[in-house]
Amino acid sequence: MTQLDPASLVEVLRAAGEPTRLRIMALLAHDELAVLELSQILDQSQPRVSRHLKLLTEAGLAERFPDGAWVFYRSARTGDGSAAQRLLQLADLTDPVFVRDLERLETVRAERRAEAEAYFSRNADQWDRLRSLYVCEQDVEAAILETAGPGPYRRIVDLGTGAGRMLTLLGPRAKEGLGLDLSQQMLNLARARLDSANLPQVDVRHGDIFATGLGSGSADLVVVHQVLHYVSEPASAVAEAARLVGQGGKLLVVDFAPHGLERLRQEHQHRRLGFSTEEMTRWVEAEGLALETARALPPASPDGLTVMIWSANRHSASARGAKT
Ligand SMILES: C[S@@+](CC[C@H](N)C(=O)[O-])C[C@H]1O[C@@H](n2cnc3c(N)ncnc32)[C@H](O)[C@@H]1O
Repeated sequence: MTQLDPASLVEVLRAAGEPTRLRIMALLAHDELAVLELSQILDQSQPRVSRHLKLLTEAGLAERFPDGAWVFYRSARTGDGSAAQRLLQLADLTDPVFVRDLERLETVRAERRAEAEAYFSRNADQWDRLRSLYVCEQDVEAAILETAGPGPYRRIVDLGTGAGRMLTLLGPRAKEGLGLDLSQQMLNLARARLDSANLPQVDVRHGDIFATGLGSGSADLVVVHQVLHYVSEPASAVAEAARLVGQGGKLLVVDFAPHGLERLRQEHQHRRLGFSTEEMTRWVEAEGLALETARALPPASPDGLTVMIWSANRHSASARGAKT
C-alpha cells in the first residue's frame, strides 16, 4: 500500500477535511463528472465547486482531464487504491447527505440517458446518413473486418448495436450473434436489417451496456462501435464489455480520437470528444485484457474526425505462458 510522507498526508487530510469536498470525493468514486454536473448535484455555484476541485486535485485526491472545452474530474487512481478511496472507507456512506447526493447523481445520469435516448429515437430512421457525416464508412468497415479477423466466431456480442450495422457486417463470421441497445426505435431498424440480411443466427434485444446480464467470458468477439462517446461512464462500459470476452477472445472498440468539435455535444448528444489510446489501454488492462492494436483512420475531409479502432485480447493462460 502506498504510504504518504507526513507533509503530503497533512495536505491530503486538509483537502479532504471539509464537508463539501468529502461529498465530491464520494461522488467521484461513482462517476467521472463535469463541474456543471457536480454543481447541479451539490446545489452550489460552479466557481465554488471549481475551488473545491482545485484543492482536491492539488492534493492528489481527484484527477482533472480536459475534454474539448469541458473539464471532467474523476477519483485519482493508483495501483493499490487511491488515498481518496482509503479515506472514504472511514466514512459512513449511509449518512443521509451522501445518500441524497447519490440520488441526485442518479437523476443527472437519468436526464443524460433520456436526452441521448430521445436523440436516437428522433434520428433512428436517418442514422445511416448521420453516422457517415464525419468519416468514410467504407474504409472504417474494411478496417474493422480486417482487425476482427476471419473468425469463425462462436458468439459475437455487439453493445449499443443501434441499427445493427456491426452485426450485419460481422454476423456472417459468427455461429451466433447478439446485439443490445437501449433504443427500441434503433432495435426495430436492426431487426428489419437482420431479416433482410438473412442472418437467422443473429438476434437483438433491449439491454444496457452497463449491465448486460450476460455471462462472464460468454463471447469470443465483443464490439462497441461508436457508443462510448455518448455514455456517462465510458470506463465502466469498457469494463462490462471486457468482462464478456472469454479466454482467447477479442474486444473491438471503435470511436473517435480526441477532437475539438464542441458543437457535437449540443447537436448530437456527444458527451466525450474522443478518447486517447492511453486511456483505452488503461481501461482494458484494468479488466485483464491486453491492447493489441490502435489503428487510426484519418478523416476524408479536413473538418472530419479521426476514427480509432482499438482491439484488445484476453490471452488464454497457455498463450500468456508462451509469450513470457
Ligand atoms: C451512435 S449509435 C451507434 C450504433 C451502432 N453501434 C453503429 O455504429 O451503427 C449509439 C448507440 O448506442 C446506444 N446506447 C447509448 N447508450 C447505451 C447504453 N447505455 N446501453 C446500450 N446502448 C446504448 C444508442 O441507443 C445508439 O443506438
